[in-house]
Amino acid sequence: MGFLRVKSVEQSILDTEAPEHRLRKDLSATDLTVFGIGVIVGTGIFVLTGRVARETAGPAVALSFVIAGIVCALAALCYAEFASTVPVAGSAYTFAFATLGEFPAWIIGWDLMLEMMLGAAVVAVGWSGYLTSLLTSLGITLPATIAGEGATFNLPAALIVLLLTAVLVLGIKLSSRVNLIIVTIKVAVVLLVIVAGLFFVNGANYSPFIPPSTPTPAVEGLAAPLIQVLFGVTPVAYGVLGIFSAAAIVFFAYIGFDVVATAAEETRNPQRDLPIGILASLGVCTLLYVAVSLVVVGMQPYRQLSEAAPLADAFKAVGQTWAASLISIGALAGLTTVVMILMLGMSRVMFAMCRDNLLPSRLAKVHPRFGTPYLITIIMGVVVAFLAGLVPLSTIAELVNIGTLFAFVVVSLAVVILRRTRPDLPRSFRTPLVPLVPVLSVLACLYLMLNLPVETWVRFLVWMVIGVVIYLAYGYRHSRLSERVLRS
Ligand code: ALA
Repeated sequence: MGFLRVKSVEQSILDTEAPEHRLRKDLSATDLTVFGIGVIVGTGIFVLTGRVARETAGPAVALSFVIAGIVCALAALCYAEFASTVPVAGSAYTFAFATLGEFPAWIIGWDLMLEMMLGAAVVAVGWSGYLTSLLTSLGITLPATIAGEGATFNLPAALIVLLLTAVLVLGIKLSSRVNLIIVTIKVAVVLLVIVAGLFFVNGANYSPFIPPSTPTPAVEGLAAPLIQVLFGVTPVAYGVLGIFSAAAIVFFAYIGFDVVATAAEETRNPQRDLPIGILASLGVCTLLYVAVSLVVVGMQPYRQLSEAAPLADAFKAVGQTWAASLISIGALAGLTTVVMILMLGMSRVMFAMCRDNLLPSRLAKVHPRFGTPYLITIIMGVVVAFLAGLVPLSTIAELVNIGTLFAFVVVSLAVVILRRTRPDLPRSFRTPLVPLVPVLSVLACLYLMLNLPVETWVRFLVWMVIGVVIYLAYGYRHSRLSERVLRS
């Protein structure tokens, strides 16, 4: 069956050597870890924490972060094995091609577009929101038609996307230097929140830590989590179920460690460095998140946390305006790298798909001087800029989550499959306790997916159907593997 043809690991690695498709290998384990932190810490902690604590979990949002972190850790162990075995651009797409076959690989590539392109656009809109509020506090007001949630065209969001696209075209090392500076600022701000915030924690705000569950009309119908609809449970907020629904939303905060794997081909010593980059960045971020969320819900009663800028506003609420301004600047800087690296990951996945002819292969040309896949990067940048400018995306974060969770499920399964089909491959990092860890990872991801709203599932399925149609119309016929089969 043509659409299940598998691309061997050896062939994938060989393809990276073709001169016209060779990326520059410049990154070290530290670069990758900083990359990971650069893309992980963003809207999730700077924005979503407030909304989720208020509406879904109460002070127990810290537990939601722990749960989401555990789910990610299981998946990260699987990603680490794959990335060290198949160090080729494209991450989950390439892994799926090596194990499940061409069609599943296409589906994953298509799914990763949902994660990274939409993710980049969502975060760019959040960036524009922070910029607007910072400018307002400096006395500059942008016209409502070009900035903010209700804008006709969100100009700052589109412009930052285009600017970052230019940086990406100019080279991976430049991107990683820009990233290093910004990550330093971002982590300093997060540490400031933790340390300075501790002085303003009021123990009374922690009780009740898990507020009693309350029926809530706000999450009925299409907005209700699928699991509640399937099992006919009355929608509730708070309580133990609330912690899990919240985990499915704050999962967004962890998205990005998987993007580290897309830089595999640009890593000097991928077998050793990729597992370090993936696991270290996830570990650091989990610690930061749990600490930040504990501090923030301790500073203000959870029902009073702000929707748009909970960290900054918690400091305003205790009279520390200076800290609030610093946090806004840190958030602005922090969101910049999230957008940049999500787009970096996206361009590398599309690059891999073009190289396999599932998308037009001429788009995979590497720039002779900059060593980057410039054509595909520019096209993607323009699409993301339009999305960020035109679509009001704040509620679409859940769609990004479902796409990512789906990719995690496939990668976890693929680890088990590759162990069976290719036990001989050198694996410098091995997922512990196979098949237990991958199976737990699949179950945990599916559980979080079930906790997402019905409307998110519907949108996800529609996206996937479009993907299948494009594959049948283009990829199936042009695929490089089918060419190879015909020639041989
Ligand atoms: N993890 C990234 C964020 O929270 C996507 O913005």
